[in-house]
Amino acid sequence: MITTLDTTMLGEVSDLIAERMGLHFPEERWPDLARGLKAAGEDLGFEYPDACISWLRSGELTTRQIETLASHLTVGETCFFRDLASFEALEREILPPLIARRSEAGRTLRLWSAGCCTGEEAYSLAIACTRVLPDPGAWNVSILATDINPKFLAKADAGIYSDWSFRGAPGWLRERFFFPRQDKNLAIDPTLKNLVHFGYLNLAEDAYPSLHNHTNAMDVIFCRNVLMYFTPGHQRRVAEALHRCLVEGGCLLVNPAEASASLFPMFAMEDIGGVILYRKTSQPNRHESWPAIVLPAPAPPVPVAPTPPITPTTAPPREDPLVLGRAYANQGRLDEALASCRDAIEADRTNPVAQFLYATICQELGRLEEAVGALGKVLYLDQDFILAHHALGGLYKRLDRQKESRRHIAVALKLLSARGRDEIVSESDGMTCGRLMESVRAMAEPMP
Ligand SMILES: C[S@@+](CC[C@H](N)C(=O)[O-])C[C@H]1O[C@@H](n2cnc3c(N)ncnc32)[C@H](O)[C@@H]1O
Repeated sequence: MITTLDTTMLGEVSDLIAERMGLHFPEERWPDLARGLKAAGEDLGFEYPDACISWLRSGELTTRQIETLASHLTVGETCFFRDLASFEALEREILPPLIARRSEAGRTLRLWSAGCCTGEEAYSLAIACTRVLPDPGAWNVSILATDINPKFLAKADAGIYSDWSFRGAPGWLRERFFFPRQDKNLAIDPTLKNLVHFGYLNLAEDAYPSLHNHTNAMDVIFCRNVLMYFTPGHQRRVAEALHRCLVEGGCLLVNPAEASASLFPMFAMEDIGGVILYRKTSQPNRHESWPAIVLPAPAPPVPVAPTPPITPTTAPPREDPLVLGRAYANQGRLDEALASCRDAIEADRTNPVAQFLYATICQELGRLEEAVGALGKVLYLDQDFILAHHALGGLYKRLDRQKESRRHIAVALKLLSARGRDEIVSESDGMTCGRLMESVRAMAEPMP
């Protein structure tokens, strides 16, 4: 039995899981680890648990295998409007000034539930935005919701919940934002569902911020009850990466138990009626080892950065419009980013990269048909542009044009299989071909 496995083995596996998933299993939690591994081993087709452990210790884990492990090792505790005070702070103090600023420029709001579990937190964010916005239909509200556990994501995407998910939630919630079903469960209002986009993202491994997984230019990030399960090293790295994902003035909320200021020295800490939030500002908390932060965010934590960082506000007038466009996009100034892309296209009509950036920004703005058109131009200029096929695979899927989606997914897979696993995909902010291949394959399959 796996529970009798020697401590050396469990120690090694806990190190490996910490490395690949960020999850911290100290010795007192080894019985949980052993139980999770036993169940994961069964799912992965191992007859004996120790065979699973030997395989874990020896091999390269694919994203799919990490997903299976995650299904058995992560904690899925969540509910709507969990820790109500945070949502009150969001509705009363965080969103109103942001909305006032944006109503003059852009009318966009970008929020992220990082470690979204079964979706309750992400839908609560969507509900909070809808309640506060004077005219929600006139805004481009985008809620990104990511997790490492595909089973949680599938439930989140279905948007159907039992009473249990509403424990402690305010009374108005069900009546106003859910539809009762015959099976006594409740389904989220489709208008809200459309605001939320769920996706797989391993906070310990994947590259973020990135335009390609839409983790750039966030106004608000909720990453609550996630970091508490991570090793101290991963907590620190995730905090740094989330900082880069925020626009200037954007804020991060974690669980009060995770809110140790020493973990977030790059942020300015604010106390809103007892709710601690971390704001990205050029005057963060004083801390010896942290230099002052200058806009925009530094390059992402990946081996290859596509462009050097540049500050739009201080850019020289002759700055390359493509570089400028990317910098604007990274700050969430999407209209200015589009204008710079148009300049870049005008300056060189044969450059597929400018068209691709244009398409990516259109997608962020919810202008899906325009994004499809621009991606068509990318492929006209370079039919082997892998990320354009990948993006079209996803876009056609969202537009329910399954045949075209399948065609582009197949081309992306063919192009990727001709490359080395560790090769970096161009224009991808450092994503390897192996990782993109897994993402394309996942796109081809229905969610579990
Ligand atoms: C306790 S739930 C928190 C859910 C929600 N944020 C809340 O506070 O109600 C923790 C979530 O973190 C996810 N998680 C754990 N490790 C992760 C990783 N490396 N990358 C992304 N998500 C992870 C788990 O799958 C789980 O859904």
